[in-house]
Amino acid sequence: MAYKINDDLIEKIHESSDLVDIVSRYVQLKKSSNNYVGLCPFHNEKTPSFTVSESKQLFHCFGCGEGGDLITFIMKIENLSFVEAVKFLADLIGISIEEGSNEFDNKIKNEKEKIYKINKEAARFFYYNLRNTSAALKYLKDRNIEKKVINKFGLGYALDGWDSIYNYLREKGYSEEDIEKSGLIGKRKNNTGYYDKFRNRIMYPIIDIKDRVIGFGGRVLDNKTPKYLNSKDTLVFSKGNNLYGLNLIKKNSNREKIILVEGYMDVISLFNYGINYAVASLGTAFTQNQAKLLKRYAKQVYICFDSDNAGINATNKAFNILRKEGIKPKAIILPKNYDPDDFIKKNGLDEFKKLEDYALNYVDYRIYINKQKYELTNYEDKIKFTKEVAKTLRELKSPIEKDVYIDKVSMDTGISKEAIRREVLDKDSKSVTTIYKDKYINGKNRYNKNDIMPITTVLESAHLTAEKTLIKLMIENRDHYNIIKKDVKEDDFLNHENNILARIIYNEYDNNPCFMKLELKNIRNRLKNENNIDMKYIYEIINMDTKFLSEDKNKLIMDLINTIKYSKLKVKRKEIIRKIQEIEAKKDRDEGDVNEFKILCLKLTELDKELKSRI
Ligand code: GTP
Ligand code: MN
Repeated sequence: MAYKINDDLIEKIHESSDLVDIVSRYVQLKKSSNNYVGLCPFHNEKTPSFTVSESKQLFHCFGCGEGGDLITFIMKIENLSFVEAVKFLADLIGISIEEGSNEFDNKIKNEKEKIYKINKEAARFFYYNLRNTSAALKYLKDRNIEKKVINKFGLGYALDGWDSIYNYLREKGYSEEDIEKSGLIGKRKNNTGYYDKFRNRIMYPIIDIKDRVIGFGGRVLDNKTPKYLNSKDTLVFSKGNNLYGLNLIKKNSNREKIILVEGYMDVISLFNYGINYAVASLGTAFTQNQAKLLKRYAKQVYICFDSDNAGINATNKAFNILRKEGIKPKAIILPKNYDPDDFIKKNGLDEFKKLEDYALNYVDYRIYINKQKYELTNYEDKIKFTKEVAKTLRELKSPIEKDVYIDKVSMDTGISKEAIRREVLDKDSKSVTTIYKDKYINGKNRYNKNDIMPITTVLESAHLTAEKTLIKLMIENRDHYNIIKKDVKEDDFLNHENNILARIIYNEYDNNPCFMKLELKNIRNRLKNENNIDMKYIYEIINMDTKFLSEDKNKLIMDLINTIKYSKLKVKRKEIIRKIQEIEAKKDRDEGDVNEFKILCLKLTELDKELKSRI
């Protein structure tokens, strides 16, 4: 039965719960004659003076004088109002509360209204402070955030003092208790008044879809910790049920897509560069309720978290949560050590859009991550990789989907389709180990770690293998170099590492006409001046075993060059299609757009012809 918040409910709560049980969640209690004792959670002490009476269902601390019943205890320890504490306990015990119009509900409504007002006043004050604090303005300027974006998000600044928001709101007539309920101020220890929680921070108001300020995030201007501070959960703010930026989505975007990012700054920075459909979870792990919100506001959900390990774990979790909601999300892959903010700042909107185009669905993402984890050049890892991916494929319902991916994994690993199929369909299968083919198929190493290479664009694995092999062939023999350079310029090597190696190789041969091949020693020396490169990948190329490659090196080189050209044309084709779609999506097209559209269509036809002729 559902209860209203009234005396009956309170009685029911007292009836169904035991103070000793509840207190034990927070304090380690020991039985002592008729009572329980422990260290008081409300003041600092070394000998226990906090006492709980089981028979009376009351607590008392002989050290600091705090005392009361179950509800008082929860109010104090969870920092909740009376009504919130009642709700908290009802929830804990499993009593559902019926929302109706009674005294208590009205009280909640009033309390909420007051917090909204306080938050709004505070946001105004922070905004005003920002305009008058050059250090804070400079911070945002240094992060490339434009004035109009500052205004759009209502960014502000909390002054560097202990009582500025306190004084401001007190002067506006709000009581200490009410201000505390908003989470903007906290009680000092020993009860000697209040202090501002947010000091010397850039303030990000968190605004709900009804345009109410529900809380704040605050960032330091330097690298002090904690970097971010968020409002505590209040009557109007529950971190797991809101998303930062959702208010703007509602206003600006066509609800086609939403990008889920990790940080406030990612949302703001993306907006700054023209992506007005990003939201962030609020400093906590992404929740099922947040997934529900996303579902309501977008057809396609993208996950774009930082590319570090924490980001990968969070992406996996978000995939699961979103999939549970029936959403088919895609992951946007950022290069190593980037977050969306860094990426778009460095590479601009177009490059970010390309990443969006190449976002990976669940299975592709799992394959991609496992490729990063395992070295597909050694047998043991290759088996582990396949088993790991098979686990993901097992989750797929559609047999067609399964089949497509089995094909792909077989191509990637050189393991036969039959073996992988058995692994997917039969958990205990040892087949992967036994039916194992050589890693080289048709003389080409099938594996390529950077199969998905998001820095400028996603390259096909055949393309990357071709680049890699050409590099190796050039190192080995000047004749190879002479043939290759006629058709392939340094800049045509698209993978970052390959590109660096190509530059070094071209330069070494051009400056040293006597070199008939290149010494690894020289290459290593020159690599020392490069930063931001994956040395493991480079050594993989340098140590590549070429004896498996075709005898006819000239023919091989021509084939590889063709592979690169073909794949580049395909990338170009995708780019043209993207531009065409962009124009098609425009609401008011002008003459320039129409002309560009025609040119793009012409280009597309030509490209398609060329692609066909190359097959
Ligand atoms: P910038 O350094 O401003 O670019 O921040 P970021 O958005 O790149 O932040 P980061 O990836 O470090 O963190 C992502 C999100 O996690 C932030 O937006 C915050 O919501 C949250 N977060 C980060 N650091 C802290 C912290 O110290 N405390 C709390 N409570 N949350 C944090
Ligand atoms: Mn960042």
